[in-house]
Amino acid sequence: MPKGSSASSLLERRIPKSGEALPAVGLGTWQGFDVGGDARGMAEAQEALKVLVELGARVVDSSPMYGSAEAVTGQLAAELGVQSKLFVATKVWTSGKQAGIRQMEDSMRKLRVQRLDLMQVHNLSDVQTQLATLRDWKAAGRIRYLGVTHYHAGAHADLEKIIARGDIDTVQVNYSLAEPEADRRLLRVAADSGTAVIINRPFAEGAMFSRVKGQAVPEWAKDAGCASWAQFFLKWILAQPAVTCVIPGTRNSKHVTDNIGAATGPLPDEAMWRRMAEHFKSL
Ligand SMILES: NC(=O)c1ccc[n+]([C@@H]2O[C@H](COP(=O)([O-])OP(=O)(O)OC[C@H]3O[C@@H](n4cnc5c(N)ncnc54)[C@H](OP(=O)(O)O)[C@@H]3O)[C@@H](O)[C@H]2O)c1
Repeated sequence: MPKGSSASSLLERRIPKSGEALPAVGLGTWQGFDVGGDARGMAEAQEALKVLVELGARVVDSSPMYGSAEAVTGQLAAELGVQSKLFVATKVWTSGKQAGIRQMEDSMRKLRVQRLDLMQVHNLSDVQTQLATLRDWKAAGRIRYLGVTHYHAGAHADLEKIIARGDIDTVQVNYSLAEPEADRRLLRVAADSGTAVIINRPFAEGAMFSRVKGQAVPEWAKDAGCASWAQFFLKWILAQPAVTCVIPGTRNSKHVTDNIGAATGPLPDEAMWRRMAEHFKSL
């Protein structure tokens, strides 16, 4: 656990394999960006992406599993002229080598990129087959980084085995006050193997906000810069130095601003981090 810091600019974390720095809060596109054909949804998603970039964040995570989200992200990034500013991550989510290649080529067309920043094997689907292709694609310069993902603690042991070999750039996994299992072992395995960690489901798909509904953020949490429950939840995650980036899902630009605020100001020290966990458990 780091000592509390008081940086005024956006918190960045480095990808261990390359040293490249990434802003520690990004954006997930599941549900929020599946708005193809919905003018109002598109306008909201566009504002969310615009605000994300204006505030200095970069990481956007998608998947072919998320309906129109890849195509919407690609279209909006082109319309806003922000493609070169984004760090675009998506996933391969199918069985078979040729099916994986077709799907990844389709994703790149939809996202309108010649080269992807990060391609991840979604939920470990046919993982060894897809990783073999990802290694080839990385060597050929079609992707910059390769990774694996899952959303459930039941898969953490499998993720650990895969990243422990030390040749995976990123692992994306669920971690939050409601689903804290990753800090038992997985975060340490990631740090030891030099694997960047991207956190999905930081709000347990939004369920954590229902748990705190009607409750004020405790005064003492303001010492760690928590101006909202979202920041309380995200700063608790970011207090883990093994975490590279957290990707809360939304197309609400106010929520984007709130979430990126978690990458500013102090982080909880160890005593505060434990107090936050106790408090959440007591609710
Ligand atoms: N297996 C995988 O690879 C996998 C699995 C799950 C997720 N993911 C990735 O991780 C991302 C995040 O996970 P998630 O979208 O499932 O869940 P999440 O980020 O834990 O929660 C999203 C929910 O939180 C709400 N929210 C976001 N910011 C908020 C704020 N500041 N204040 C209040 N409410 C807020 C959103 O509501 P509003 O829409 O109203 O803002 C939405 O209902 C996904 O979008 C996806 O990119 C990957």
